[in-house]
Amino acid sequence: MNELDALVTEAQQSFAQAATPADLENAKAQFLGKSGRITEWMKGLAALSVEEKKSRGAAINAAKQVIEAALTARRQTLAEAELQQQLQAEALDVTLPGRRRGQGGLHPVSLTLERIELIFGSMGFEVADGPEIESDWFNFTALNTPQDHPARSMHDTFYVESPAGATPNLLRTHTSPMQIRHAVQQVKKYRTALDAGQPIPEIRVIAPGRTYRVDSDATHSPMFHQCEGLWIGESVSFKDLKFIFTAFCRTFFESDDLVLRFRPSFFPFTEPSAEIDIQFQRGPLAGRWLEVAGSGQVHPNVVRNMGLDPEKYIGFAFGMGPDRLTMLRYGVNDLRLFFDGDIRFLSQFQ
Ligand code: PHE
Repeated sequence: MNELDALVTEAQQSFAQAATPADLENAKAQFLGKSGRITEWMKGLAALSVEEKKSRGAAINAAKQVIEAALTARRQTLAEAELQQQLQAEALDVTLPGRRRGQGGLHPVSLTLERIELIFGSMGFEVADGPEIESDWFNFTALNTPQDHPARSMHDTFYVESPAGATPNLLRTHTSPMQIRHAVQQVKKYRTALDAGQPIPEIRVIAPGRTYRVDSDATHSPMFHQCEGLWIGESVSFKDLKFIFTAFCRTFFESDDLVLRFRPSFFPFTEPSAEIDIQFQRGPLAGRWLEVAGSGQVHPNVVRNMGLDPEKYIGFAFGMGPDRLTMLRYGVNDLRLFFDGDIRFLSQFQ
């Protein structure tokens, strides 16, 4: 084997050993570069005779061509390997199922509130909304519950810091302040008609929302929901309360034979007052009485605080617990489950 053949073999081996394109370019420089081995051979030609130049030159060129071919082949192999590797790294399994966006849904209590609004809406009730941080006036005093009234002690709540000497605001203990807020708004709207002794539209509203008390057990949570109802007109009676509330419960629970009991009770802002219990005729709760609301004829002092003449205007109010209604409707035995935020529990209501 002559020296040129040996050089070709050496170049081929060197190219084959190059594992990356960069290695390969380094190897190329050793053989084909400016001061590479082939170039050295070319330079050697200068000292030779014309005849020798011809034959040696041809041999060197032939060797150079073989080396170049080997280089090109190796370049291609490396480029292909690189492409394969890249393809593999970016491989997509088109048979995998797509990633779905988790489908959210309404909270069970929100579902109940929607239902309440729908049912009362169909009976001509507006829906009103009000602040959760409430003043002492709206939460208690305007509702015929002055400072030191014993009924206040049943509404232990969270007070908001306020300047020294000022009556502190509080997280509302019930939605009843909305009776006053909404009525006052309506009265303002119809002030001129009222002053002229003309009739004004009846006040018919529900006010659902969050309420707060210092309470926590299976049927009480420090934050809970209430829905207030108010109907004021010139001849709205206790009979209307019984009719409306019974119709609501029967529609809500989809049970035409549901029985209601109006149990005499006391609230400072209604007179007479009643607590409303319902009894299921069928199902797991059959026979049991369950309290769902407080209610009564709006007290004359409260009607006066609404800006209306209690000699002329009369009506009823009720306050019910949507959380309780949700428990009853779905058979849930611990109220706190609604507010723990456990998706395993909540997703069952979708
Ligand atoms: N606000 C009362 C409570 O939270 C319920 C109620 C509302 C009673 C309206 C009578 C009239 O206990």
